[in-house]
Amino acid sequence: MLKTHMCGNLDSSSINKDVTLAGWVSRRRDHGGLTFIDLRDSSGIIQIVLRNEELNISADNISRIRNEWVIIVHGTIMIRQKGTENKKMKTGLIELIAKEITISNKSNTPPFPINEDIDIDELNRMKYRYLDLRRSKMLNNLKLRHNVTHFIRNFLSSKEFIEIETPILNVATPEGARDYLVPSRVHPGKFYALPQSPQQWKQLLMVGGFEKYFQIARCFRDEDLRSDRQPEFTQLDIEMSFVEQEDILMLIEELFTKMIDKLTPRFSIPKKFPSITYNECIEKYGTDKPDLRFGIEIHDLKKIFLNTEIIIFKKMIDDKKRIRAINIPNGSTLSKKQIKKYNEIAIKYGSKGVASISLDHQIDINNPSMDQVDSLLKQFLSQNELENLIQEMKSEAGDLILISADEVSVTSNILSEIRVLSAELMNLIDYDKLSFCFVTEFPMFEFNKLEDRWTAMHHLFTMPFEEDIHLIDNDPGQVRSHAYDIVCNGQEVGSGSIRIHQADLFLKVLKRLDIDEKIAYEQFEHMIQAFSYGAPPHGGIAPGIDRLVAILAKESDIREVIAFPKTKTAADILTGAPSFVDQKYLDELQLSINEDERQS
Ligand code: AMO
Repeated sequence: MLKTHMCGNLDSSSINKDVTLAGWVSRRRDHGGLTFIDLRDSSGIIQIVLRNEELNISADNISRIRNEWVIIVHGTIMIRQKGTENKKMKTGLIELIAKEITISNKSNTPPFPINEDIDIDELNRMKYRYLDLRRSKMLNNLKLRHNVTHFIRNFLSSKEFIEIETPILNVATPEGARDYLVPSRVHPGKFYALPQSPQQWKQLLMVGGFEKYFQIARCFRDEDLRSDRQPEFTQLDIEMSFVEQEDILMLIEELFTKMIDKLTPRFSIPKKFPSITYNECIEKYGTDKPDLRFGIEIHDLKKIFLNTEIIIFKKMIDDKKRIRAINIPNGSTLSKKQIKKYNEIAIKYGSKGVASISLDHQIDINNPSMDQVDSLLKQFLSQNELENLIQEMKSEAGDLILISADEVSVTSNILSEIRVLSAELMNLIDYDKLSFCFVTEFPMFEFNKLEDRWTAMHHLFTMPFEEDIHLIDNDPGQVRSHAYDIVCNGQEVGSGSIRIHQADLFLKVLKRLDIDEKIAYEQFEHMIQAFSYGAPPHGGIAPGIDRLVAILAKESDIREVIAFPKTKTAADILTGAPSFVDQKYLDELQLSINEDERQS
């Protein structure tokens, strides 16, 4: 090794030791014949003292050293003089008095400062990602990511899981997101698909007799990107035989609680993760990804407004639509501008707006006077309705009640978004809290209006509730499934299910999805056959590693925990992917592309 120690690992126990360190110049300060350099390597930073007269290189050469140059320094670790210690640095009590210095490589001036925690233009960060990775934030995030996968591997290995790699070149299957396709040279005109997840492989491993499998698996999906979606991402893929839903949920609960206790103990986390059914979730939070760091639940107001004079509410009830509301503690302090934002959210989801009822801070909550209510509904709102409303919403003086009346899905969208926005505005969110929960009993099917057919809400292999199987043909919307999600702070961290392991049930589900038997056999013959050779009951789950690490690193975008992510248009600015290729490669693959595309 060109070095004997790592900068950040040295401390007072190394005083008087001769060491050789190597790394990057993070900062330099000149004081006449004395130069201070903060030397950085992947473990941290240490101060180097260069005294011109004691060194092997000239003062001139020392003065030329710039930030990000690579140097190798030999010298002695000494305690810093009293008053010059730096308590903010891990190595702030010591310094290296240099005797010999070698300049290993120079550096151009970086396009952005490496040593400061400042906002940097996104395109520059991606273009010079190797420099961005030198910043302490990225280093810490990727170390955390390593610690997470290391912990997972140890934990699951100790429970007799084995890690098995599965193919990257796969057969394309319908359903799910769009595949990334890879043309085959050997089989002209045919394509492999990159795995959206190793779903079928892990089920085949169960048929193959491996009862406990896991993989830190790369997955690829050609879908619209967002802050929590990348075209290639990583899952902790798990599958087990002879399990029930509860076994998998308990495994994940134990893994997550132990891992977070060890790696990020600053977070408060419940020892038991609550389980909420999908229906309850939609009723209370308007979403299947509830943020439980704060209260504010949705209430149904139908019974309060059954005989109302408020025409719009009356019409909603007649049209079998919903009237739902949330109560924002102390929300009467919100400005008109903030309330306007709520209406914009409602309009975004196709509704006319939200009705607000603001309660004065002086209002007697047990005997409320209309004079202390501020609302456009006021002239039609009866005293009785006001009292019932306050009771139902458990409102206090100074609160704001927001009502959305529309189709159930519209009110859900509006109120779930307003719920989170209000919690942010009212400072109700404890950012040191990780509120995990399991969402269970997802519907088996959802109706896709665009395609005018039923699709699988989780995936094709999800086991329906046995007592609901008879509804598959005639009332698919009512079929519940053994599918579950693990959710944290309003984000879906992972999902899974107990699987179908019998061929006849699988064929019945495919039929419901309008996948006809010929196509079913073409695309899933291997699965249908495998199920007919004594497939064991099995189930699994797949938490997203990127989302999990981002939450633990308190990052709002998963790109902050991925070394080389893609941009929002699935491009890699650093290397230029995707790129055009030489015609000869296209010829080999017997592919042709539209010349207009090449020009654009
Ligand atoms: P699902 O499609 O719900 O399930 O994915 C599981 C988890 O993977 C993560 N994830 C993503 N992360 C980043 N970018 C993406 N584009 C992306 N897509 C998904 C999420 C998500 O919760 N085979 C099933 C799992 C199973 O049934 O066992 C599956 O892939 O964290």
